[in-house]
Amino acid sequence: MRKFICLAALLAVTGLQAQKQQALRIDLTAKGAQVSPTMWGVFFEDINLGADGGIYAELIKNRSFEFYQPLMGWKTLGNARKEGSFLVINRGLAAEKNPRFLRVQVNNAQAGDLGLENEGFRGMGLKENLAYDFSCNYRLDGKAVTLKLELLNEQDQVIGSSSLLLPASANWKKIESSLMSSATVQKGKIRIGIVGEGQLDLDMISLFPTDTWKGRKGGLRADMVQLLADLKPGFVRFPGGCIVEGHELSTRYQWKKTVGPLEERQVIINRWNTEFSHRPAPDYFQSFGLGFFEYFQLAEDIGAAPLPILNCGMACQFNTAELAPLEQLDEYIQDALDLIEFANGDASTQWGKLRVRMGHPAPFNLKYLGVGNENWGPQYVERLQLFTKALKAKHPEIELISSAGPFSSGELFDYLNKALRAMPADLIDEHYYRKPEWFFQNARRYDNYDRKGPKIFAGEYASHVEGNLEADKRNNWLAALSEAAFMTGLERNADIVRMASYAPLFAHVEGWQWNPDLIWVNNLQAVGSPSYYVQKLFSTNRGTHTVVAQLGGQPVAGKDSLYVSAVWDETSKELILKMVNAGPSAVKLPLQVNAKLQPGGTIEVATIQSASLTANNSLEHPDLISPVWSKLAIPKKGMNALLPPQSLVVWRIPVK
Ligand code: AHR
Repeated sequence: MRKFICLAALLAVTGLQAQKQQALRIDLTAKGAQVSPTMWGVFFEDINLGADGGIYAELIKNRSFEFYQPLMGWKTLGNARKEGSFLVINRGLAAEKNPRFLRVQVNNAQAGDLGLENEGFRGMGLKENLAYDFSCNYRLDGKAVTLKLELLNEQDQVIGSSSLLLPASANWKKIESSLMSSATVQKGKIRIGIVGEGQLDLDMISLFPTDTWKGRKGGLRADMVQLLADLKPGFVRFPGGCIVEGHELSTRYQWKKTVGPLEERQVIINRWNTEFSHRPAPDYFQSFGLGFFEYFQLAEDIGAAPLPILNCGMACQFNTAELAPLEQLDEYIQDALDLIEFANGDASTQWGKLRVRMGHPAPFNLKYLGVGNENWGPQYVERLQLFTKALKAKHPEIELISSAGPFSSGELFDYLNKALRAMPADLIDEHYYRKPEWFFQNARRYDNYDRKGPKIFAGEYASHVEGNLEADKRNNWLAALSEAAFMTGLERNADIVRMASYAPLFAHVEGWQWNPDLIWVNNLQAVGSPSYYVQKLFSTNRGTHTVVAQLGGQPVAGKDSLYVSAVWDETSKELILKMVNAGPSAVKLPLQVNAKLQPGGTIEVATIQSASLTANNSLEHPDLISPVWSKLAIPKKGMNALLPPQSLVVWRIPVK
């Protein structure tokens, strides 16, 4: 919901004295470059419990017993000598994709004696009056066994229950039940009591809330998707990030292993499980319940172009730096070709048929494909060249994204920049995780880039504030303000900057490895950071064409702490200004627009500001730093934009 306030009042209450300024001249006579519909997008990676334990709404941790410690997340109840015992069976290559299951010997167990408990991912968020879908795969050698399902609160009190009778079955069978929670709890759990007699095999034990995004069974957390949808992103980049590369090649992201039936999506370790010794996450694995089909579907749901990034035969160079030999690259290239078929092919093709079978007859309209993430050096260039040759030969319609490495400058960057421009690459993916000063100073980074060269994808960026405490490093208002200043530069250069995405996207407050992040969640809430609201203002005020806006004949990129970009919106016939005042004093910025404005017409104004640069949003105060909306009448003459200290202000001015 929009917050409204009178802007003049805002300046009055803060007692601000606006400085005098020279006029901002806005030239609407010539339409500038097109702002790509893909300009502002989102970057999704399964980091910080982003997927499992995050947006993927599964509440059971280690549902198929495939973690290194097969019973991690589970507690077994009962006395092995009396009512029953548990064994982990591993079928090895006979069931390569889902080798383990749990065998329970049930010895005439009565209610309350024998069972299992699952703790969820940092607990289970359960909501009052919400139904939960339980399911599991089972085999039973015996007459019948009953599962007594109970949702528990933090005090182990029962807040929901149901019962499931499992008839004998020699083959694996899926069985389902529904439970209602009578209370809202942040850290609930489930108890599965086992009653009866026989040998019971269990696998894929699952519990999902029913209030998922679009009500899809086994789907995504609606509050988290909604925050993405509200950004109206131009694209969704997935699945990363370093997760694409893997710590070693065997744990690289392989999209084919993430589609089709859930029980055939082989669980592997998440590279962020062990990446940072100061933030270990031993229970972090990838179930791939959120796999490539679901990523494509997510992008489609929120009106964004899908932008997958694939491994190019190189494991993370910060880790093992393993390389697939060039003569074995065909498998990797084939994965890319098959992905295009999966996304765009019809039912007569092998991979198109799978997409149709999974419930999506229409193509996903894939137009962009990334080859490698943060790879560098000649090894990358030679692999990229092979990919490019093969992909362009079969699919000239797909634009390829190549990596400029992990840094925004320096030897690695310069080498790649030269090599990629010589190819020439379609789009170059530049990453910058830098201090706020860097972002302020680099608002003109792209002003002098070759206008005829490859386009730019600012594929991962975030302003990193330094601090002694991890919490200080979260994206506070200073970080977000510096990103806003930098983004005016991206927008001004929209003729070459085609895409940009903040990274990473999600972080669980109790399960993160990387800080800062765009959106913070716990088991029940999702909160946008100040950076989120900056992204949102840019993305939802994208416009269609750039417009020249200058102070003293120069782009506004730091002089007097001001940063400005202007766009024209062809659909709504509005001039949109994004103005950042990074200084400590208010600024009254005279505007000279060479177009007929209708006096009395309404200017919509959005302002994000804070007197404290260290201010942040939190679970308790989720929208402390967020846009405040107001309206202004176009004056007969002399139009001034009032920019509070340390603010991002967006104006939408109707133009006849
Ligand atoms: O966004 C977090 C990580 O930062 C990504 O996985 C990687 O691409 C970059 O180094």
